[in-house]
Amino acid sequence: MALKPSRGTLLWGRRVHVWAGGVQWPQMPAHQPGNGGLTVEPINIAEYEAMAYEKLPHDAWEYYIGGSDDELTLRANRDAFARIRLRPRVLVDVSHISLETTVLGAHVRTPLLVAPMAYHGFAHVECECETVRGVGAAGTLMTVSTMANRPLEEVAADASGPLWFQLYVYRDRNVSEQLVRRAEAAGYRALVLTVDTPRLSRREREIRMGFGLPPHLHTANFEGAAREQPGQTPGASGLAVYATALLDSSLTWEALDWLRSVTSLPIVVKGVVTAEDAALAVEHGAQGIIVSNHGGRQLDGTVATIEALPEVVAAANGRVEVYLDGGIRRGTDALKALALGARAVLVGRPVLWGLAANGQQGVTRVLELLGAELELAMALAGAPSLAALTPALVRLPG
Ligand code: FNR
Repeated sequence: MALKPSRGTLLWGRRVHVWAGGVQWPQMPAHQPGNGGLTVEPINIAEYEAMAYEKLPHDAWEYYIGGSDDELTLRANRDAFARIRLRPRVLVDVSHISLETTVLGAHVRTPLLVAPMAYHGFAHVECECETVRGVGAAGTLMTVSTMANRPLEEVAADASGPLWFQLYVYRDRNVSEQLVRRAEAAGYRALVLTVDTPRLSRREREIRMGFGLPPHLHTANFEGAAREQPGQTPGASGLAVYATALLDSSLTWEALDWLRSVTSLPIVVKGVVTAEDAALAVEHGAQGIIVSNHGGRQLDGTVATIEALPEVVAAANGRVEVYLDGGIRRGTDALKALALGARAVLVGRPVLWGLAANGQQGVTRVLELLGAELELAMALAGAPSLAALTPALVRLPG
């Protein structure tokens, strides 16, 4: 089957095909008769992406895949990984390789965690509950978004591994504080404070389709005042309208002090790409930092996360755990990030591809595929343990 690069976007009356995230889809395996029209099991993330493309409604695909403005950062996240070369060591005993580690004290079978993403309901009727079952089977940790389609308690009830809760700070801090209380009560292990979204960026795919939640989906975590939903909005992104109305764009580092004053859960700051902000995060009591540019969905032109990682790791100086997300599509991407000092990486869109393609089994398989690739890459690099992954393994460009 020859694959289309994307379903295409109608622009000035012409159908324009946009490469998504710089991913060049390889040829998919041939269709198998009697297999529900599906192909044989995908063997890499790109094939899961292609399968998700076939399965998802157009609006959902565009919402999931998209970035902001010209999608420069979306592509940069991938391109920057490709520019880094490896310096493998040879004749090392790699007969036993372990991917097990801890993140903020929680044990995980693999350093591949799941990034917070809104609205899994477009990919599966069971929404985040289906995802978390797949993540649990892969033995790793999921971060549940404030903007989930299922209440955080329901997701926790289906979890078999550790959970973090991602928090947006609402203008009405009571709304956020209630979420914190509920996350604590439901057994979440940490709060992930997203700091790169004082306002929503211009995501032109969303604007073009007037993106919003269809009537059967809602942001399930809210009651009362914040129950207002990001509805479908002709000529605008319903999500941007929602965010402008409810999120607090006056947020400063004081918000971190406030959050610490209302919870004893560890706080992970998500969306840092500079040494300056890493130092401030540590100063204000964060226990973890996620180097992230929101998967290219916020400020376009932002540095790729793998490029930002070394300065953040240097500024953190071992005082807090540093993680990275953005563009992890191969085990070797994770290998490069771990070698440059990330304690773990978070996987975003590929988890949605697995969910759309094959529910919880798809989620598990995506994480296992990436884990198997990472394990093999470690063997070939002469690094039998995560501790053996050091900057000496990579050669940075320039
Ligand atoms: C996101 N991301 C995100 N981040 C966050 O802090 N809260 C959220 O609700 C969301 N929602 C969301 C929805 C969708 C559809 C996507 C694709 C992403 C950003 C996410 O946590 C992460 O930073 C990136 O997705 C990582 O990049 P990759 O792996 O998708 O390239």
